[in-house]
Amino acid sequence: MYNFEYQNPVKIIFGKGEIKKVGINIPTGAKILLTYGGGSIFKNGVYDQVKASIKDFDVVEFGGIEPNPRYETLMKAVEVVKKENITYLLSVGGGSVLDGTKFIAAAALFTNGDPWKILSRQAPVLDAIPIGAVLTLPATGSEMNGGSVVTKAETKEKLSFISPKVMPRFSVLDPEVIFSLPEKQVANGIVDAFVHVIEQYLTFPVNSPIQDRFAESILKTLIEEGPKVLANRNNYDAAANFMWSATMALNGLIGAGVPQDWATHMIGHELTAYHGIDHAQTLAIVLPGIMHIKRDQKKDKILQLGERVWGVLDGTDDERIDETIRKTVGFFESVGIQTKLPDYSVTSETIDTICTRFKNRGYKVGEKANIGPDEIRLILEDRL
Ligand code: NZQ
Ligand code: ZN
Repeated sequence: MYNFEYQNPVKIIFGKGEIKKVGINIPTGAKILLTYGGGSIFKNGVYDQVKASIKDFDVVEFGGIEPNPRYETLMKAVEVVKKENITYLLSVGGGSVLDGTKFIAAAALFTNGDPWKILSRQAPVLDAIPIGAVLTLPATGSEMNGGSVVTKAETKEKLSFISPKVMPRFSVLDPEVIFSLPEKQVANGIVDAFVHVIEQYLTFPVNSPIQDRFAESILKTLIEEGPKVLANRNNYDAAANFMWSATMALNGLIGAGVPQDWATHMIGHELTAYHGIDHAQTLAIVLPGIMHIKRDQKKDKILQLGERVWGVLDGTDDERIDETIRKTVGFFESVGIQTKLPDYSVTSETIDTICTRFKNRGYKVGEKANIGPDEIRLILEDRL
């Protein structure tokens, strides 16, 4: 196990009816910017619950934060923050609204030029406006991490930044918000959380049985509970287990002290940037390709995943690796997410474009920083 430092100050307020606690977790006298997306919160009762909870505060609202939040939209919110002297940001939505709010929080206090540099040059975030969150879609883990992914529409770039400064002060997780989620978004959440675990687990052994078994338990819970949510959309217990699994999948705990990959995400982000494919769908496409092309490097952990999560015990190593990949693909497809590029009308032309972008960026990705344009081509061609 590697050395690590772990600190996660986010206060989680979990359970049915807990949205009423938003107000008591915001400092008295704060001037709040309530951020939201396309309006789902007005239809599922979340907005009314939030507004009731913050009725004693001075509140400005900013809506229209897109799925895969856009820099151009978020910069309009930054203007509102400055004009209205906002002192607290309250994100009410899924990962896109929260990631967008994290960027707004940092950009509003950024004094080193164009805030896009926070993403394009990883310019340090020295300060940020405090954030509270009401999560309406379990998937990203954004509710309990310092990560944020933002898209610049003008250049079709989807980039991320991480800073402890933008970790929410508190996040309210009420599983009942899942009842209104479209099935596709439930499936997206299951797969996104599953792949978050994989990015921190399916690398190479470093003698980390606690992290491994915790990771495997999250995977098995997603495999067991995810389909229950889809089968009965008002199953509170399954919704609660799914929501908490997604949070635990990316709050830093299972990733502490172990190698991390993230190549699936780095390549997947390009498929979203160029084709607008949902984030989780891009992961379902790319991951099987990475498992196949990097099977030698990842052999020990793929065999362990197969044995402990999918029950793959028989056959040669290669046969067991193939079966583990098949099981993983089968799980994604069982929740309705396709795993091949043609399923999304993506052709080899995009493969060329993505490989060129990585070539121009000049860096390689993956746990051993050995996935460059050539490997990316093999990985994506495996998915044609
Ligand atoms: O915008 P509204 O009207 O709210 O509708 C949203 C949106 O259309 C809808 N929705 C959300 N909650 C709902 C609901 N509809 C009905 N009932 C509810 N309770 O669902 C749609 C998708 O929402 P979005 O926030 O885009 O989905 P998700 O939470 O999966 O977030 C995806 C974004 O998170 C980033 C992705 O790149 C993508 O931009 N990620 C963030 C990470 C992080 N911060 O750590 C890590 C992840 O790997 C990921 O990259
Ligand atoms: Zn993700």
